[in-house]
Amino acid sequence: MDERLLEQIDKSRLPQHVAVIMDGNGRWAKKNGQPRLFGHHNGVKSVREVTEACGSLGIQYLTLYAFSTENWNRPEMEVKGLMGLLVDTIKKELLTLLDNNIRLHAIGNLEGLPSATRTALVEAIQKTSSNDGMTLILALNYSARWDILNATNKLLETHPNTQIREEDFTAALSTSGVPDPELLIRTSGEKRISNFLLWECAYTELYFTNTLWPDFRKPDLYKAIIDFQNRERRFGKISEQIN
Ligand code: IPE
Ligand code: IPE
Ligand code: MG
Repeated sequence: MDERLLEQIDKSRLPQHVAVIMDGNGRWAKKNGQPRLFGHHNGVKSVREVTEACGSLGIQYLTLYAFSTENWNRPEMEVKGLMGLLVDTIKKELLTLLDNNIRLHAIGNLEGLPSATRTALVEAIQKTSSNDGMTLILALNYSARWDILNATNKLLETHPNTQIREEDFTAALSTSGVPDPELLIRTSGEKRISNFLLWECAYTELYFTNTLWPDFRKPDLYKAIIDFQNRERRFGKISEQIN
């Protein structure tokens, strides 16, 4: 089935940047009669598979929403477990990243992360910095409103008393230099943005699936890309102007 779906993808019209709100780990664990962290652990398998699949398809940027600013409000045990899992995963997957020529990058308020998480992250970013395949961007302690405010405060310092242009603003965000995502996938049936890439998703195609993140595999990714390729992106114009 993987192959049949893969054949339907037009390699010349791939999205340059895919973003994913990886949701449903908790419900997946509950369905399996396990604690929530079991779901997060199994979500890592989906991260690995989707990252490898995007890389080998030739997608240039993959952004994964791994921990939101709002996620600090979860029970302490879950937050601790998630931070621990992050450190372990970053360390363990470093070789996978190197083998696949993937460059790691992170967006969000990294200073607010526990030091062990930050250290592992910074090390992996440095060690993969000369890779020139896909860029994997982890959104960690990220929220779009935080980023927008952060950018605004930076611009107040660098551009006092001047008019800010759209490109100045774009360059001040933590996603600076990365093209806007053409496709945003959210798993688990929730249909909301949850404070993710609000500025960057102005014209992004949204794809929602009921599949829970730990069940999301290559065929699910391929289906999302095929769906994306069947859409008409009009950017305010009319159909006749596009075709
Ligand atoms: C997404 O799964 C993972 C993170 C937010 C870190 P959830 O943990 O939100 O799973 P549900 O939504 O409770 O099922
Ligand atoms: C969004 O998922 C954040 C991440 C995937 C990291 P949540 O599960 O936290 O989103 P809400 O709060 O239900 O919208
Ligand atoms: Mg959730």
